[in-house]
Amino acid sequence: MKFVVLLAAVAALSSAASFPGKTEHYRGNQLIRITVEYEEDLKWLRNIEEKMNLDFWTDPSTIRPVDVMVPRDFTSEFKRMLNKRELYYKVLRQDLQDDVDNDLAEAMRALQKKARIGIQTLDDFDYSIYHPFDEIQQWATDVANEYSFVTKFKFGETYEGREIGALEIAAPANAMASDPKPVVYFEGGIHAREWISPATVMFFTGKLLEMYNNGDADARRVLGMFDLHIVPSLNGDGYVFTWTDERLWRKSRQPNPDFGCVGTDLNRNFDAFWGQNGASPWPCSIVYRGFTPLNNPETTAVDAHFQALKAAGRVTKVFIDWHSYSQLILAPWSYSSAAELPAESENQLAAAAAMAAAMNSTNSVAGGYIHGPSARLLYEASGASNDYGFASTPAATYTYVVELRDTGEYGFVLPADQILPSGEESYDGVIALLDYVINNDYD
Ligand code: ARG
Ligand code: ZN
Repeated sequence: MKFVVLLAAVAALSSAASFPGKTEHYRGNQLIRITVEYEEDLKWLRNIEEKMNLDFWTDPSTIRPVDVMVPRDFTSEFKRMLNKRELYYKVLRQDLQDDVDNDLAEAMRALQKKARIGIQTLDDFDYSIYHPFDEIQQWATDVANEYSFVTKFKFGETYEGREIGALEIAAPANAMASDPKPVVYFEGGIHAREWISPATVMFFTGKLLEMYNNGDADARRVLGMFDLHIVPSLNGDGYVFTWTDERLWRKSRQPNPDFGCVGTDLNRNFDAFWGQNGASPWPCSIVYRGFTPLNNPETTAVDAHFQALKAAGRVTKVFIDWHSYSQLILAPWSYSSAAELPAESENQLAAAAAMAAAMNSTNSVAGGYIHGPSARLLYEASGASNDYGFASTPAATYTYVVELRDTGEYGFVLPADQILPSGEESYDGVIALLDYVINNDYD
């Protein structure tokens, strides 16, 4: 028995050592930061984004600088265009391949140094490093084994057949709680390269449970008032691909028949104003909306979950899709900046303000977290989760896309030493948000 366990551990280590697949996909690509002040310049940039199919790392806006990855062969032409328009820019990264190589090497070193050997317990789990998909699933299993009121369930399956694990946290209800308790839904990793998202979701989930066991009043209050449904890594295929092939992959890995390009932007594939602005009909675009709404198994899994909740008469109060980067809390609407804000907007924004204030006070992170309605704060994006969660089946009033750290110093390639601070501030943000709901909108 011991022998088998040891063998398995060695096999896990050596398969870890065979990460990452050595492609030179990003050699010579630059990350260029553009500071935009005027609406016409934003429009111009959005137009280029579409025409040239550039990979914008941040949504074009005037509230944060716009970071865009420019392919090797286009860098001088692009800079010429920016100069001609008198737009101020700065080259943040000279050669993204070097950054990506360093990042993966660092993740591998950390994994190998701290790899869990032998029979795994939750105590062995190291929240301060990035974990491969299988370890995230194992973490969910371990959490469910540790706490009597936590269940792991199969949320769905990815295109490539990976099981997407989810946790249901159903602690004993407080005397004040509704019966059944309202549901809070947290989803991580819909975009593959945003590694801080699953890492943060795992951290605050783990902390909440630990604090609950220690009798902490905040944890007891929120878990006594809500059931939590947590999907730490929704886009498992994409996430695995970022470890093995392309660190900066964003989409799903479902092929598009008749096109060479793989993948759908799952956050444009929801059945909420699908196919309107800020989503592309072209399979090669990084914001490809998919052939039809919900035609990817990962988004279908989300929808199936909420159909089931609806059928069971369950109320969903909170829906957060955790992303990176830019440090933003984004409320509906996402699809249109012209659409009138929903009647619930005042509450949505007040709750987001409470969350942002809490997140900012934890570590006073540089740049702070900013909140607002997505399309007005940034650009329009249709078929996105924050409109789906609010306007579709689950109708969770408090639906947001949260963009985690940082504001672009490292972007998606965020060093692991920021996981714990990100997790701590997100934990405080979650408590503040849920308290807002308990105090203002709970019956
Ligand atoms: N960066 C996220 C994405 O592209 C956020 C989308 C949120 N909505 C928006 N209108 N920007 O999926
Ligand atoms: Zn994202």
